[in-house]
Amino acid sequence: MPVYIVLLGPPGAGKGTQAQLISEKLGLPHISSGDIFRENLKNQTDLGKLAKGYMDRGELVPDDLTIQMIRDRLSRPDCVSGALLDGFPRTVAQAEALTQMLAEFTGRVNAVPYINVAEEVLVERLTGRWTCRAEGHVFHEKFSPPKVAGVCDFDGSELYQRPDDNVETVTRRIRVYLDQTMPLIAYYRQGGVLLEVDGTKTINQVGADLLAGLDKMV
Ligand code: AP5
Ligand code: MG
Repeated sequence: MPVYIVLLGPPGAGKGTQAQLISEKLGLPHISSGDIFRENLKNQTDLGKLAKGYMDRGELVPDDLTIQMIRDRLSRPDCVSGALLDGFPRTVAQAEALTQMLAEFTGRVNAVPYINVAEEVLVERLTGRWTCRAEGHVFHEKFSPPKVAGVCDFDGSELYQRPDDNVETVTRRIRVYLDQTMPLIAYYRQGGVLLEVDGTKTINQVGADLLAGLDKMV
């Protein structure tokens, strides 16, 4: 049976950072909805052009488009053993659609690590973040600096600051998270698959806590 893991947490909690660490360990492809939208934008596809306005404002791209995009991605051959989802689902409608599509793939959501970080910490994390142009690897100027400033340790590509990582848009993204995504914590807790970890510890410690918790669940 395939294994599906959903990383949940506010913007800047460390979903992408932890996915980078654990996807290889678990042998699951890392699927980030935000990265797929940014890739579409880079390639100037219709989906990318449409998503841009929402992303720039810090709002969610409409459910129907996002659900279809994830369905297409999960249908690809590299997901036959499952996937590590980062940034999807983000609304109850998306969570319900995910349950339905995974049933079609004879799977289910096996575990939902929830990376819990207080709101005050998020702004500093996001405004100091540097992201790699090629693959979306993440760094932080203070907490996780690259070996050479402006260059990705993993693939040598240029690091840039995401246009939605300014204080105003970050504030909006956190608000949207509180309104639309927070209800998923109760949704998955009720389903018995929530794994809460303290996201304020060091990057390596959070990773160790996640792997230890997942070991018991998948
Ligand atoms: P997306 O790209 O998913 O952004 P997000 O959810 O806002 O999350 P982030 O990527 O900002 O944070 P993260 O948790 O991955 O943190 P990271 O590991 O980088 O979405 C962007 C936009 O796309 C959305 O606003 C929306 O418009 C659209 N979208 C995406 N999915 C959608 C969906 N399902 N439905 C509708 N619209 C959707 O870490 C952050 C920083 O902190 C880094 O610099 C890192 O080095 C540092 N850091 C990480 N962990 C630690 C630690 N433990 N200690 C110290 N520093 C740390
Ligand atoms: Mg991310």
